[in-house]
Amino acid sequence: GAAGIAVPGVLGARSLRRAFAAGPAAPAFTRPLALPRVLRPVRRTMTTDYYEMAVREAETEILPGVKTRVVAYDGSFPGPTIRALKGRRVVVRQSNDLDMDVSTHLHGGHVSPGDDGHPAFPVAPGDARDYTYPNAQPAATLWYHDHVHHMEAEMVFRGLSGLYVIDDPMEWALGLPNGAYDVPIVMRDIHLDDAGQIVWEMGDFQNRNTILVNGRTQPYFEVAARKYRLRLVNGSNMRFFNLSLSNGGDLTVIGGDGGLLPAPQTVKSVQLSAGERADVVVDFGAYEPGTRIVLTNAFGTDAATREIMRFDVGSPVRDRSRVPDRLGRTLALPDADVTRDVVMDFNPATNEWTMDGRAFDMNRVDIKIKRGQTEIWRVKSDSTHLPVPHNIHLHGTHFEVLDRDGRPPAPHETGPKDTVAVMAGSTVRIKVRYDRYLGRYLYHCHLLDHSAMGMMAQAEIVA
Ligand code: C2O
Ligand code: CU
Repeated sequence: GAAGIAVPGVLGARSLRRAFAAGPAAPAFTRPLALPRVLRPVRRTMTTDYYEMAVREAETEILPGVKTRVVAYDGSFPGPTIRALKGRRVVVRQSNDLDMDVSTHLHGGHVSPGDDGHPAFPVAPGDARDYTYPNAQPAATLWYHDHVHHMEAEMVFRGLSGLYVIDDPMEWALGLPNGAYDVPIVMRDIHLDDAGQIVWEMGDFQNRNTILVNGRTQPYFEVAARKYRLRLVNGSNMRFFNLSLSNGGDLTVIGGDGGLLPAPQTVKSVQLSAGERADVVVDFGAYEPGTRIVLTNAFGTDAATREIMRFDVGSPVRDRSRVPDRLGRTLALPDADVTRDVVMDFNPATNEWTMDGRAFDMNRVDIKIKRGQTEIWRVKSDSTHLPVPHNIHLHGTHFEVLDRDGRPPAPHETGPKDTVAVMAGSTVRIKVRYDRYLGRYLYHCHLLDHSAMGMMAQAEIVA
């Protein structure tokens, strides 16, 4: 819709258009899709898989033949993928080979406050920290990324993010495409200079005109003529994507942030704000071998930001996968005990982004919430000072999206969510309950340049 066009970031859409400049480009669709390496556990016990990674500087080939300096988990850009099993614990030992603090957050994970990458518990240079992830939650596409105080935007931009997938043997029984037909598509934008090096500047979204898929520009992907599960992840700092297939083909949305939707929903496009995920099934068996289909971003301003990647349809292969009519569950939260307002805004006097009129202070508790209590949050993006879109991400739990300005949620928003878009001037109502751990959890805008500039707060969960 019209509101959707004004998406990318800090200013209004019209001023944006003028400010856009093209980034250095490689020829489109000349390199195959890269798949992030899957990390192997260093040790397994009856209950737990142990992993180790170091945060360090590394080089990667974003553009062919050009070495780009990045900051990377285990030297990989994006970071290595962890595939966890529901009900089996994962412990990740993160060591820090940088000369600054880091703090790793498992986005979408139900973990204790001490394992959540809260900026109050950083890992100092030369140190290490064990993060324990119980995986006692539905199978889902999660991701991990840096969350160190005031620096998360820059560190994620420079490369500190990776995928974390929880698999569930129960889910395998559904017959969805799996194995080689279950493919991560992690999209993000970046600003590269003429030498192919990362340019970091806070709020600089209009110059982030190179789009990466799994760390490379505009790849092609040779698919068999059959169904695939694509795990779409928006790993951008600020960019919103509105994704569709260039041939107008169907996307069957099966999952969102928190796992499978109650039922599949067939759509023509999926819109993802920064940090959001959607799992879609695409049946390439519906197309002739030789068909080329571009994954298209309607919010792109030129070919490099519109044409994300290309699917090249090959020969048919046997496909016994299916998308059943019933998939996962809603949270089914009871009636709310409490309703609260959360207002996202800009303070022109201090140049800070605010939650409820205040910029983040990690020593301040902004709200206290009783464990087990169901709440409705009316989250409003106040456009009085700067009419820009935001989103809201909650740590430590999932929520239901009730409505957006009174209208029903989008298809990919019909399951458990942890991040939801809040367009300029609009109000999204979510229903939430924290029912596990006591302690402090962040909630913030996941346009990371905003959160790093104050648009973050914390809730203390109390007994
Ligand atoms: Cu993905 Cu608090 O963040
Ligand atoms: Cu924001």
